[in-house]
Amino acid sequence: MSNYHIKHLEEYYQVYRKSVRAPENFWEEVAEEHFLWYKKWDNVLSWDFTKPDVKWFEGAKLNITVNCIDRHLTTNADKTAILFEPNDPNEEAESITYKQLHERVCKFANVLKHQGISKGDRVCIYLPMIPELAVAVLACARIGAVHSVVFAGFSSTALATRINDSACKMVITSDGSYRGAKTIDLKGIVDEALEDCSCVDRVLVVKRIHSKIQMKEGRDVWLQPLLDKADTDCKPEIMDAEDPLFILYTSGSTGMPKGMVHTTAGYMVYTAYTFKNVFQYKPEDIYWCTADIGWITGHSYIVYGPLANGATTVMFEGVPSYPDYGRFWQIVEKHKVNQFYTAPTAIRALAKEGLEPVEKYDLSSLKVLGSVGEPINEEAWHWYNDNIGKKQSPIVDTWWQTETGGIMITPIPFATPTKPTYATLPFPGIQPTLMDEEGNELKNNQVSGRLCIKFPWPSMARTIWGNHQRYKDTYFSTYENKYFTGDGAFRDEVGYYRITGRVDDVIIVSGHNLGTAPIEDAINEHPAVAESAIVGFPHDIKGNALYGYVILKDVGETRRHDNLRKEINQIITEHVGPIAKLDKIQFTKGLPKTRSGKIMRRILRKIACKDTSNLGDTSTLLNPEVVKDIMDNAF
Ligand code: WT7
Repeated sequence: MSNYHIKHLEEYYQVYRKSVRAPENFWEEVAEEHFLWYKKWDNVLSWDFTKPDVKWFEGAKLNITVNCIDRHLTTNADKTAILFEPNDPNEEAESITYKQLHERVCKFANVLKHQGISKGDRVCIYLPMIPELAVAVLACARIGAVHSVVFAGFSSTALATRINDSACKMVITSDGSYRGAKTIDLKGIVDEALEDCSCVDRVLVVKRIHSKIQMKEGRDVWLQPLLDKADTDCKPEIMDAEDPLFILYTSGSTGMPKGMVHTTAGYMVYTAYTFKNVFQYKPEDIYWCTADIGWITGHSYIVYGPLANGATTVMFEGVPSYPDYGRFWQIVEKHKVNQFYTAPTAIRALAKEGLEPVEKYDLSSLKVLGSVGEPINEEAWHWYNDNIGKKQSPIVDTWWQTETGGIMITPIPFATPTKPTYATLPFPGIQPTLMDEEGNELKNNQVSGRLCIKFPWPSMARTIWGNHQRYKDTYFSTYENKYFTGDGAFRDEVGYYRITGRVDDVIIVSGHNLGTAPIEDAINEHPAVAESAIVGFPHDIKGNALYGYVILKDVGETRRHDNLRKEINQIITEHVGPIAKLDKIQFTKGLPKTRSGKIMRRILRKIACKDTSNLGDTSTLLNPEVVKDIMDNAF
């Protein structure tokens, strides 16, 4: 029996039991059999969740790009590694073989070195979904630089915060990007951000849309001429297992995003192992994940996991609605995609367009369908299952987080019977548990609780960049000796997990993880605003949309409220990004507060969700009278 490739349910249970009984042996076997090491580990695992301190494969030496690229060159040099599908369907797709990828990554890595980047330096990557993004990521990993990819939909303020937090020396960007029929001035956004970033002394610019941009003398350089001169071979930096591989920011409950730090060996082993099993990838398959590499899904399951398995991974630059709502299905047909991994929000948006755009295309190549990013509702699950998978392709509803690095709870296709809206069973090595609010572990089935993980897994984030205390406070202090996910979950009678949603101040809008605090901070920047509170409410396509309660400084504000609403959304766009715009803004005289001054979001949430029949305990409210006023004026 091979631990590496699970094919039946009994096999899953066997492997799972082994992974829990003897985790170190289990992971050691996986690591030994499937990767190239310059030197193997002295110790598989050491851990202490009270510090918290977790180390996997300590003492091992490796380079992840050797595992993702070089080792495939002997057998698979001419196999397509990255299949790039441009925004414009009339522009030709580009197929990059493993050999070509090797050359491109080496050249880029040499450019980074010539530009003064060395092991441990942080490099910010702010690029659209073009091959250079994947190449830049791998080039950093080649030389041991720590990449910090910032999703190219974030605003200049959000970009600047992230650049400064990890003191990046360099930014890699492009002149602009295509997004459906629109273009976005990425370089302009970078220029604005860098006005507040003294740490950056070099900007490498990829030419993508051929727009006229400003190049700041002494700081900005076009990438292509440097690549043209660069050597095609770059010796990989020999990395320690626990050397940081990348930083990726995720929202938190304060205005500062959290720079999650992922390290090299554990991340590689876990993403590769999950990729192989969760998508049942076979050597000739074409795999497509529609996420952006700016998110963890793209890091783990467009770049590292697939490439470590020698897979062909599709990179799509565009959007599902351009030139029409058939685009995803046109790409599936064109490239004969076998595994398709997307988000519930995309499924809902496409389902709304009816079946005509689906039926035009041959989807018979599909074998496995994936879902990630938020709970998938029953209706969307069935639409996906019936119309895209034709009831033949299992849906893997994969639950995980930026912090977990890889997929944690998921069916194994063709092994685990699926159940709509259930992420089902823990992946081998993952020990989930449910806790009640008093800190008791809920051992029975058919219970709801807060989802925690009891034992370390190789790809868990090791810290928050520059703030280990916050890492401890956020994830390891709510429950003793457990990693707290921030999610609620239900466990059914057979032990399947259904993720019910966040139990903290994070709201998932169209699959994007948004903290309420940074949005409220942005709104409060408006000169007319005194205070604000944001909650989520259900939305047909986005899953959740944002509802803002805003107190104006001057209650007699004479300006038109609609204008103020526009201005508030403008400020949010500038500070956080357009994804965080509010769908509804209610101006109110007060916010329900406890005696200690905390906003009772529970009540605001109920009002926004039109669920006011029972507001729960309001006895601790300082100002119960505002509740009625808010209800009377709610949308
Ligand atoms: C949060 C993490 C991990 C990749 C993308 C999101 C929610 C994620 C599922 C799922 C229900 C899910 C959770 C989680 N989430 N996948 N299959 N079912 N909820 O990464 O931005 O770090 O967000 O997304 O609430 O905590 P992220």
